[in-house]
Amino acid sequence: MKYLSIAIVTLVLTMNCTTKNETLVLSESYTEEFRPQYHFSPEEKWMNDPNGMVYYEGEYHLFYQYYPDSTVWGPMHWGHAISTNLVEWEHLPIALYPDSLGYIFSGSAVIDWNNTSGFGEDGKPPMVAIFTHHEPLGEQMDKIDFQYQSIAFSNDKGRTWTKYEGNPVIANPGIRDFRDPKVIWDHDSEQWILVLAADDHVKFYGSQNLIDWTHLSDWGREYGTHAGVWECPDLFPMTVENSDEIKWVLIQSINPGGPNGGSAAQYFVGNFDGKNFVLDEEFREHVTDEKAVWLDYGTDNYAGVTWSDIPAEDGRRIFIGWMSNWLYAQVVPTQKWRSAMTLPRVLTLHHEKEGYRLRTLPADELKSLEIETSNIPPGDLSDTYTVQTDPATNLYKLELTFKKPESGLIEIRFSNNADEYLSVGYSLAGKQYFIDRTFAGQSDFKEEFADYHTAHIAYDHENVDMILYLDHSSIELFADQGRTTMTDIFFPNELFSKIQIIADHNPVELLSGTISKLKKTW
Ligand code: FRU
Repeated sequence: MKYLSIAIVTLVLTMNCTTKNETLVLSESYTEEFRPQYHFSPEEKWMNDPNGMVYYEGEYHLFYQYYPDSTVWGPMHWGHAISTNLVEWEHLPIALYPDSLGYIFSGSAVIDWNNTSGFGEDGKPPMVAIFTHHEPLGEQMDKIDFQYQSIAFSNDKGRTWTKYEGNPVIANPGIRDFRDPKVIWDHDSEQWILVLAADDHVKFYGSQNLIDWTHLSDWGREYGTHAGVWECPDLFPMTVENSDEIKWVLIQSINPGGPNGGSAAQYFVGNFDGKNFVLDEEFREHVTDEKAVWLDYGTDNYAGVTWSDIPAEDGRRIFIGWMSNWLYAQVVPTQKWRSAMTLPRVLTLHHEKEGYRLRTLPADELKSLEIETSNIPPGDLSDTYTVQTDPATNLYKLELTFKKPESGLIEIRFSNNADEYLSVGYSLAGKQYFIDRTFAGQSDFKEEFADYHTAHIAYDHENVDMILYLDHSSIELFADQGRTTMTDIFFPNELFSKIQIIADHNPVELLSGTISKLKKTW
């Protein structure tokens, strides 16, 4: 492609590490090729969905689908990590092991504040995990009822767990894909509500004690996309920003059928009255005839759900997803471990021109990753200037606001000396954001991997506003105050050492820009 005007912005970032950084560099861990430096990844072996995310006594718990014996999927356990700040994570021993009822599939955890379950001890509320038991023999024998829901509890802040002796607590009603329970206490109907995925729809259940569950209703066969199986739902109320209005959000992962192939998450906005989910009228037309509203248009944010029990004085809906895709998760070229989580993100609900929509932005805590920030001088980017980035690191955050161009493209290009590059950008003609990982490194493990991904912009916007987080093998784009989100992974043979901002066809005006070097957290 011939660029009529090219602006190259590269930044000199000091090669001298700060003292803080030096201590971190001393650590021998997490230095493997492609290893995420500030995202959560297991020390070794296979990981998929985040599970049981719950906040209790100053700790964010992150459990996850884990197979400790291999770097491909296998008998599922719940791995466990905690964080006090959503940035630095501490690995803890495996929380739940497979047992005679099966593997431990995805699920959630809550704090049972009023000890409704009776599992509490010494006046302290128990932490209760609600998960799917998947019975592998049943699956092999082609039965259909090999997935059912079970519970376990902990009285020592998630360190040790006891499985409930009466498991399972929800039997299989004759549905092959019947899994991934997410539980919330509903203040209005004064009951625990459980949502789970049942093939092409969700089922809601209610309970007073987390043990005895009543089926409330089914929803979703006629809304959203069904190009794949529904998995890992999440249901929660949200106050619409700048109003007192409460709406309920249902996040629904689907595999395959994502906007750029494979796994992805769609969502719905409506009301929930303690029994039925009723889709919002305005939202309806956007999710009929197999249309979907996507939480993230990239290929690598799957099975994400939100934390339970975030204190009311905080009040945020904090989300994390699995940063991979079932299309290729088991064959990506990492050696010691497989997969990482997305950055923790905060969801907010807004009433936009096109109806109720979620916005997704990185959690504020991530600002503590920034060790050095430089301004990119605003102005017309047809001025070309060249400087160089630090070849020893690849960890950057960029915040860029451009005046919406009259035509053409804005491209942010990360490249290395091996002629590999990753592009993220905005195309006025296509009315879309994009991530192009076609030439971003290794891709021969899966044909569909090297590709150009797009996110159609369904709203009017004045400026082009991007926040980008680059780690060794991932990029996260939060555009237009979080209205469009894209997450992609990639595997460059060398670290990217140059960042360019390229204006195509028209001069592009940068209104403001910063680049921050980020620290490693492992
Ligand atoms: C989603 C999923 C869930 C299931 C788990 C098994 O990625 O397929 O539906 O519980 O992974 O590991």
